[in-house]
Amino acid sequence: MIGPSQAYSPNLLDGERMRQDFEALARFGATPDGGVSRPTFSDAHLAARKWFLARAEAGGLATHVDTAGNHSAVLRARHSSDARVLLLGSHLDSVPGGGRYDGALGVVAALHVLLACKGAGADLPFTLEAIDFTDEEGTLVGLLGSKALAGTLTPEFLQSPRGGRQALVAGLERAGLREERLFDARRDPGLLAGYLELHIEQGPRLEREAVQIGVVTAIVGSRSFRIVLRGVRGHAGTTPMDARHDAAVAAAKVILGVREIIVRDFPSCVATVGDVRVEPGAFNVVPGVARVALEFRSQDEGELDAIESEVLARIRALAEADGIGVEISPVAHWQPTGLDPMIWGAIERAAADLGLTTKRLPSGAGHDAQALAAVTPSGLIFVPSIGGVSHDPGESTAWGDAVNGANVARR
Ligand code: GLV
Ligand code: MN
Ligand code: MN
Repeated sequence: MIGPSQAYSPNLLDGERMRQDFEALARFGATPDGGVSRPTFSDAHLAARKWFLARAEAGGLATHVDTAGNHSAVLRARHSSDARVLLLGSHLDSVPGGGRYDGALGVVAALHVLLACKGAGADLPFTLEAIDFTDEEGTLVGLLGSKALAGTLTPEFLQSPRGGRQALVAGLERAGLREERLFDARRDPGLLAGYLELHIEQGPRLEREAVQIGVVTAIVGSRSFRIVLRGVRGHAGTTPMDARHDAAVAAAKVILGVREIIVRDFPSCVATVGDVRVEPGAFNVVPGVARVALEFRSQDEGELDAIESEVLARIRALAEADGIGVEISPVAHWQPTGLDPMIWGAIERAAADLGLTTKRLPSGAGHDAQALAAVTPSGLIFVPSIGGVSHDPGESTAWGDAVNGANVARR
């Protein structure tokens, strides 16, 4: 990736040593079903980040933590007058009960690219930095560290974050971070040479087509909303069925209504209700309140606008017909992001040099690369996910595929 002209990469990185480090990292927050649970700023997440810095230092790399909590290992260019930094990375946080590969593979691979360059005494054209971004998954905010570094994080955005304001304040305190200083993590784009991320595909396409390397052309846009449905709480034994304003029933209609609209009118898009909580939550109480987490995704901003208006209108109509109050608050708005075509080409050349097959494809999952793409040429390399499984403990990638992806990044 650093370019075929700077040919300091005849030797590949140490796949076995990388595997040992990957396994060591997977012990932090390990779950009995073979996955990891490392929500942002949990003990397991903080311990994994500490391990990353210690491992980098043991490998003779400099380390650094910025005011957004992004953790970095750095290999400086010794002879180049170019002060720019090429960032390589991903994230060490996970969804609750997630898999071992999402994010972690990219961080370990980035670290090993630096170690391999250091080991080879590479004469780097610019500084290399392996970075673990804070809160990619959105336990608290989503793309928190990468947006802070890109300078696109705003104070307003932190007022009503995905995980709730209280969780954000408590989380920052646990991690020893100050909210007003998150913005100081911004880097001058003039000092960035680019960003490259290795990630598992998290879907089935590469495996189905027996392709080794995915060249990601664009990252999906998404919008999320918090919906509160207010019905009337009642006695489950004495309130007749025709006299109920049941918030759980309204939530069920919302879920099915959203699904129907997407399948019928937006077949290339996806929508998910990923969380529903009813109150008070008892066998014998008709629920008075339901809180619904809704998100939808598309590669096209106009389509996101159309989904938003159709879906929200349907939710309001469903609620009104059942005598249910409804409050809808926007939570996040990620625009579809194109990645740099020069980098697609560089990934393809690097893969071809290594005799690996490639396929161009868009990403349906969000990634730190979408935040970085706003300020610096950014690229994303995918490796196949077994069975397309992700955000699940069963997430897996053949180790040889993982090493192939890291070697492509190394080029
Ligand atoms: C992150 O994994 C996302 O796509 O939500
Ligand atoms: Mn990820
Ligand atoms: Mn993820």
